[in-house]
Amino acid sequence: MTARAATMLICDMCGTLVSARDAKTQCAKCGGLFSLRYDAPTERGPALKKIFDARLAARADMPESSGVWRFRELVLPDVSDGEIVTQPEGNTPLVSRDRISAWCGVESIHMKLEGANPTGSFKDRGMTVAVTQARRLAAPAVACASTGNTSASLAAYAALAGLPALVLVPNGQVSLGKLAQTIAYGARTLLVRGDFDDCLRLARAAADKLGVYLANSINPYRISGQKTIVLEMLQQLGWRAPDWIVFPAGNLGNTSAFGAALREAKELGLIDRTPRLAAVQASGAAPFAASFRDDFRERHTVRAETVATAIRIGDPASYDRAVRAIRETNGVVIDLPDAEILDAKAVVDASGVGCEPASAASVAGVRTLAARGVIQRTDTVVAVLTGHILKDPGILLQYHRDTDPPPPFANRPIEIDADLAAVERVLAAVRRSDG
Ligand code: F0G
Repeated sequence: MTARAATMLICDMCGTLVSARDAKTQCAKCGGLFSLRYDAPTERGPALKKIFDARLAARADMPESSGVWRFRELVLPDVSDGEIVTQPEGNTPLVSRDRISAWCGVESIHMKLEGANPTGSFKDRGMTVAVTQARRLAAPAVACASTGNTSASLAAYAALAGLPALVLVPNGQVSLGKLAQTIAYGARTLLVRGDFDDCLRLARAAADKLGVYLANSINPYRISGQKTIVLEMLQQLGWRAPDWIVFPAGNLGNTSAFGAALREAKELGLIDRTPRLAAVQASGAAPFAASFRDDFRERHTVRAETVATAIRIGDPASYDRAVRAIRETNGVVIDLPDAEILDAKAVVDASGVGCEPASAASVAGVRTLAARGVIQRTDTVVAVLTGHILKDPGILLQYHRDTDPPPPFANRPIEIDADLAAVERVLAAVRRSDG
């Protein structure tokens, strides 16, 4: 492999180039966000696929055994092995279940199980890169605002790197599993009296004024790592592009990362056509869907409210680059009521796969887009399930045990005395309802 120029940061809006040693996430000239700019690999198409495919056999002690660093030429080319902070992450399954396909009304839906990452969400893919960079810059501390998954992931990677972590989460609005993880991995956890958008404003100010390294998805290294969700799914599909990639959208980091990944994959000849992106929001937190309906003439913001707390975001930070991603992929943005997201979650969970509430927005989105005739029955669809079922146990019990009348897929637990006759009665009822 030839020697590479050092990675630079390039402003998405005005094209200004700054050194990658700059820890800022915002362009001083125009306020735009940065992306990484690096030399494209010299290999193209089949030769590049061959490199990535050969690494599927990488030894466990090599960075390339990670589902992020396997694609290192497209993530952070000029990093050396010893600098990489990896758990490892990625290598998540791509699965299909007949009952989910049938429920969605499409023949071929694959689910990318990002909950199988080390801390239970896709955030680990961006965090391995951002924390690697934080350590390269000798940052004194790392920080983020979060609805829970970013904070859990940052806390774990900071622990691995030996860096102090400061996280800001909206008080009372983070699910039990995520809050517990964040605290347990050792991050200094600030319960902010405000919402996620307040937390992000505060985290950005702390990065500017106090010199902590910001690890939110406005950080270009996060976006670079998250591109590998798409690269890995393409590889799992034998580099045959699906027709659709459907996913939940909040702060719009993934929307931006997926757009960038597809742009590069097409340019480098890894795929010969571009899948369409479908970003799905919860109706109570759907500023991006509102902008899409306006043909992106106006940037909307809302006061967000949804049971899918991961995507309870009213002023998404990566708005501009997400607009580009939707436009370039002939994508769509929709929003769905909480009840539909929770029903989709119950179907995903009962298939034995499982995911957290926000993640189920993708499957609910496939069903709705298929019903509207936007997704065709014969289209190949990948739905990204962004987080693990155990991230939000509270909402699960509320749906199945505590809602009256029971929602469509409720599986009520039954309290019994410790005697066999009671078990027998339940078993007989189960047999009747199955027959
Ligand atoms: N799904 C899950 C499980 C998430 O945690 C998030 C975002 C998203 C989807 C939306 O992704 O922000 O890139 O559009 N969670 C962030 C957090 C905001 O703090 O954990 P996005």
